This record gives sequence, structure tokens and C-alpha cells, in this order.
Amino acid sequence: MKSSLDKVNSFKEAMANYPTGVTVVTTIDEKDNPIGLTVNSFASVSLDPLLILWSIDKRVSTYESFLKVDKFAVNILADNQADIAALFASRNTDRFANCKWNLSANHLPIIHGAAATLQCNVFKRIEAGDHTIFIGEISEITVEKKSPLVYHGRKMGALPSSFHEN
Ligand SMILES: Cc1cc2nc3c(=O)[nH]c(=O)nc-3n(C[C@H](O)[C@H](O)[C@H](O)COP(=O)(O)O)c2cc1C
Repeated sequence: MKSSLDKVNSFKEAMANYPTGVTVVTTIDEKDNPIGLTVNSFASVSLDPLLILWSIDKRVSTYESFLKVDKFAVNILADNQADIAALFASRNTDRFANCKWNLSANHLPIIHGAAATLQCNVFKRIEAGDHTIFIGEISEITVEKKSPLVYHGRKMGALPSSFHEN
């Protein structure tokens, strides 16, 4: 069923007013190259087992490669990493040549300086309209004491200082 343009625009307006964090989801493709993209569709799903989800647009150039992998890493960006978010959303740039990262023991690309990194095994993939939802089961977690990068109204930035007051 095709949605009316009015409904699509209202949907976009509503979602633009829903603040999220910003992540970069990474993996190693079938040719052993690191691939990754900026993602704000990330959410927690379950505590037992530990599950998270994110969704990928079928038009993303690495979509077919993501369908073939059995693991990925979610790098939750820190508030000083807006440049990393822009890098992993921009076309025709060598994303991994322009940031600091390393391969984990699980052979997943880990972006340096992130607020947290969740390494996951693919638990389930669900086709949903023009996206595919990935549900991941967490295998390794690292957490740093850093404030998150926030996305709201198509802008990225740090949390307002009122969030840091007790
Ligand atoms: C803040 C932000 C959040 C994004 N979230 C998603 C997302 O959840 N899923 C997705 O498929 N693309 C998302 N994108 C867009 C992708 O990052 C972008 O389309 C992708 O990097 C393009 O990759 P390509 O040049 O390899 O096709 C987001 C972009 C930004 C700036």
C-alpha cells in the first residue's frame, strides 16, 4: 500500500522530532573489507538474551554484503564524534581510511573514541518495507564514561548542559 505524500511528510516531521543517539554499524564483508554506515534506528530489544536492533535501507550500497554477514558491531558515538557520523553517512569517501579503528578479536571493526561498542551475532533478519531489520545478540560490550552524540531535527550535537546537572 502506497502512503499519501501528506502522510509521508507528517511521518518525517514526527520522526525528526524524536531525538536519538547516533551509532556507526560496522562489519567485515565477503572480500574481507571493512564496511559501515551511520545508523540512528538502533534500539535495545531484550535483556534475556541480550538483544538489540537496527534497520538498513535497501538502497545502501553495502546492503547485499550486510545480508551475508553473521556478526556486526554497533559503535555508539560520543558527543565529540559528529565528524565520524558525517563520514559514515557520506558517499564516495574511503570511510575507514579517514578514521581511527582496529579489528577486534572477533574480527569486527571497532571505531576509536566511541562511548560504547556492542559486538553482536546476527540473531534474526526481518524484511520490513524498504528496510531490513537486523536483530543482534550481544557477544562483547565495552563502555566508556562519555556523553553521547544526539540527533534531532536533522542536526547532531551534545546533550544540553541541563542533562549533566544533578
Ligand atoms: C544521523 C543519521 C542516521 C542514519 N540512520 C540510518 C539508519 O538507521 N539506517 C540506514 O539504512 N541509513 C541510515 N542513515 C543513512 C546512511 O548512513 C547512509 O545512507 C549510508 O551511509 C549511505 O551509504 P552508501 O553511500 O554506502 O550507500 C543515517 C544517516 C544519518 C546522518
